[in-house]
Amino acid sequence: MNYESRIEELLNLMTLEEKLGQLYQSNSASEEALEQIRLGRIGSLLNVKNEENARCRAAAKASRLGIPLVIGLDVIHGYKTILPIPLGQAATFHPSVVHAGARMAAHEVAASGIDWTFSPMVDIARDPRWGRIAEGYGEDPYLSGILGAAAVEGYQGVELGASTNDRQAGLAALSRPGSIAACVKHYVGYGAAESGRDYNTTEISEHTLRNVYLQPFHACIEAGCATVMSAFNDLNGVPTSGNEWTIRKILKTEWSFDGVVVSDWSSIWEMINHGYCTGEEEAAFKALRAGVDMEMMSECYLKHAATLLDQGKIQMEWIDDAVRRVLRFKFRLGLFEEKTIPWGKEIWLDKKHRETAKQASLESLVLLKNKNPLPLEGTQKIAVLGPLAHSPREQMGCWITDGDAGDVITPLTALREAFGKENILFATGLETARSNDKSGWPAARQAAEAADSVVVFVGEDARLSGEAHCRAFLDLPGLQGEFLEHISETGKPITVVVMAGRPLILTPWSEKVQAIVYAWHPGTMGGPAIADLLTGKQSPSGRLPVSFPRAVGQVPIYYNQKKTGRPALPGGEGIPIGTPENPIGFSSRHMDVQYTPAYPFGFGLAYTEFEFSPVALSASTLEETITATATVKNSGQRAGTAVPQLYIQDLAGSVTRPVKELKGFQKTLLLPGESKEVCFTLHRKDLAFWTANKRLETEPGEFLLWIANDSRCKDQEGAGFCVV
Ligand code: NOJ
Repeated sequence: MNYESRIEELLNLMTLEEKLGQLYQSNSASEEALEQIRLGRIGSLLNVKNEENARCRAAAKASRLGIPLVIGLDVIHGYKTILPIPLGQAATFHPSVVHAGARMAAHEVAASGIDWTFSPMVDIARDPRWGRIAEGYGEDPYLSGILGAAAVEGYQGVELGASTNDRQAGLAALSRPGSIAACVKHYVGYGAAESGRDYNTTEISEHTLRNVYLQPFHACIEAGCATVMSAFNDLNGVPTSGNEWTIRKILKTEWSFDGVVVSDWSSIWEMINHGYCTGEEEAAFKALRAGVDMEMMSECYLKHAATLLDQGKIQMEWIDDAVRRVLRFKFRLGLFEEKTIPWGKEIWLDKKHRETAKQASLESLVLLKNKNPLPLEGTQKIAVLGPLAHSPREQMGCWITDGDAGDVITPLTALREAFGKENILFATGLETARSNDKSGWPAARQAAEAADSVVVFVGEDARLSGEAHCRAFLDLPGLQGEFLEHISETGKPITVVVMAGRPLILTPWSEKVQAIVYAWHPGTMGGPAIADLLTGKQSPSGRLPVSFPRAVGQVPIYYNQKKTGRPALPGGEGIPIGTPENPIGFSSRHMDVQYTPAYPFGFGLAYTEFEFSPVALSASTLEETITATATVKNSGQRAGTAVPQLYIQDLAGSVTRPVKELKGFQKTLLLPGESKEVCFTLHRKDLAFWTANKRLETEPGEFLLWIANDSRCKDQEGAGFCVV
């Protein structure tokens, strides 16, 4: 469609007031707002659904130029059918699961009249204190980029991988019924908030910004993501919603992004609180100069752009460029045409949608420990305990707008179904995850004593993670840890299922239980997924998208840290620190905790064992490509899904390099005794990074490479190659 000429025609007809209206997003559907819409003073809405949505659209149609509204909503992990939180989705290590979830959510929310979701969030999170770690894909830029792009393609209605090497292909289906626009956020560095405190300041060097924080955003832009949200944080002294360097220079110029940049909620106005602007007028000036096209909720543009133009402080070209982008966005979405959705609310929670959500929940489950009570085959009586065994609201997770607890199937319900109601002995022990009341302990203990096996559901309430919900302590809230220790005194085999919005510290109780399954907040179908895993009907295949610390003092702890001049001297698990076998030396580690994480990035057990052969490389030097091959064998007795992961290490660079970087992963099902060859091809550009020349380059030099089960690859086991 040639909409560019129509955009110019419209632009010529618009008054300044109408132009500024296109740059304003409100959340109101009041009578007053309807009048403003009719006058062309509001171009976009958020959080307005169903009948109100239709009323507002009709008002826009009745405006002088009839420019349609674009209406957004935070569909973060599902709309009616709730998916696992994004961090849980990341644990699937499975782009097609993320894609299918986004597709399903787009279909459901389109039936409420929504065109646009503020998702995916691809903020790299290295700090589990930060509540919003729940909403992203974890600590790794490569994994976050792949999964972010999969979500973009899912929302925007194209096949997984359709946009590879063709950004336009990612935008091509936006006008089809059931497609909604994606908005990658929060641009940029928001996850690096100091102290893990939301909205806090960030300082990120240019090479870390380019090599880590910007990478997943770039992947989403390349996938055709229609919009970008500027963030709340200041970055190296400049708020990201007034940051000309990151928005106008990097995003719009270097990456040629021609879509819309929308501010976060009042983030333009908040530049006054940041102490970066003296008032609304300066905030409008700095945000327009930076290239923020649409202002969410605050009204600095509406109120002050005309004066700024009169004073010659801003150019009409800035306004026109922003309006063009908004109009282009609306044309891409097909909003200028009559759009009818060929289905309605009957598809909400449809059987297929529930299956999609169940598969996502199942693949998000990470088995962290298994001293053989799992699977629970042949078990007679099971005690189901804990505050989260039957807690539908908490199970849904942190960001739901329209999810209904009544639609959730809990583990208790699913386990009763699987084992027969009479075989399940249920007692919460603690009423809620934060409870300090021990009155329910005797009944819980009695249930445990009477059972063959015990499953305890603990974790965090949904409201302990998400926006503005940060924690300074990372252990189980309330008395849950003590409760687990108390139940362990029964000597019964105990499986702990943790539902949480972040990595938690699982000691000291983890030593006293036999199995641990990390379930994140698994959404509507979490119960049946967990039951299938516990009973052995399905096997665990989730992998950690984030490192789990042993102590809060280790934070930030992430696998792709930089090398140091004095790396920690390797010592053994369980060996006292400071002994000859586990020395401190003058090395980079804490004196009071092992230097490794409790559970590393990429980690996850199965009900079987996988053996990896040494890696074979197609050549010892890389000119354009190199192929790495290894054989993975299922050496156990049960079928299982392996997740071979490709890591590399750049031995030396013009700036210091991470100890390891993920460059590929696959999921592959292996029957007992079966072997498969897994193969990864690396291109020269895959090894590029932001170098001392302030350019993206692949530097010649030595590399190590691993194909492994998780990120704990040892230098001496890596295969070496050389880039020439
Ligand atoms: C603020 C949040 O930071 C952002 O993620 C969200 O999309 C907007 N509010 C809109 O609700």
